[in-house]
Amino acid sequence: MIVYYNYSFMPKDEVRISPDDRGFLFGDGVYEVIHAWGGQLFEADAHFARLEHSLGELRIAFRDLARLRTAMETLLLQNGLTQGPARIYCQITRGVAPREHAFPDPDTAPTIYATAEPYTPPVALWEHGVRALFVPDIRWGRCDIKSLNLLGNVLATQRAKEAGAYDAILVRDDTVTEGSHTGVCAVLDGTMVTHPLTSEILGSVTRDVVLRLCHELSIPCAERAITRTALLEADEVMFLGTTSGVMPVIEIEGQPIGAGRPGPVTRRLQEALHSRMLGGALPVD
Ligand SMILES: Cc1ncc(COP(=O)(O)O)c(C=O)c1O
Repeated sequence: MIVYYNYSFMPKDEVRISPDDRGFLFGDGVYEVIHAWGGQLFEADAHFARLEHSLGELRIAFRDLARLRTAMETLLLQNGLTQGPARIYCQITRGVAPREHAFPDPDTAPTIYATAEPYTPPVALWEHGVRALFVPDIRWGRCDIKSLNLLGNVLATQRAKEAGAYDAILVRDDTVTEGSHTGVCAVLDGTMVTHPLTSEILGSVTRDVVLRLCHELSIPCAERAITRTALLEADEVMFLGTTSGVMPVIEIEGQPIGAGRPGPVTRRLQEALHSRMLGGALPVD
């Protein structure tokens, strides 16, 4: 596998990262996960806008975003991923410096790393739906930054995994914020509802696309907080994300959601999003 590391393309096992890298020492960096199809990045502008936001909020001076975008396309080419679906991961840290909490010398170069791998759509899960459970949202106050610091998310995902669930639904003060690696939305009285864009959630690119699709498909939608109880009583619940697509949630904490199977709004949004993500072809189970 060919990866991109500090402006060079190289086999992954040739990458040498310093133990003084602030990503390693402090999780001091940001990342993105981008879907690609046929060698093209999906919703690239939105991902790069969010990356710029994350870098800006953490005051990491990385200015080569256009070059990084081209490098991602080259990575797809070099890894033979110009036909089907693929997934790009990239992370940028504040660079290598002796361990001290305060920022290093302003000349310290950020560390850049990116990979491209084949993506297998979770077709069976899309078809049948998944289970979820509630987990308290213990994350910090800037969840809008796609930071490498993912401990709250890691612990919640592990809880979900140990319970045999697909993802955790994070709850703060009785309000559903998002999943541990997904956005959450629900159909309440015919309206597709999702948490408003605040510092308590990540500005999910998939959430934005789905809201756009709701407008296109004349599905009423609203951005407002959902309580835990309201979510359990929803007609439909979905996880949204770059790797999850529109993922039906059919059971939370052992309670069936709606009829206990993916509902009609979920199906319409799946069809609209997944056909765009997968070059027009809808996969079948
Ligand atoms: C906490 C969190 N929320 C939401 C998402 C979904 O974001 P996107 O749709 O941009 O993949 C992710 C994706 O990694 C995430 O980690």
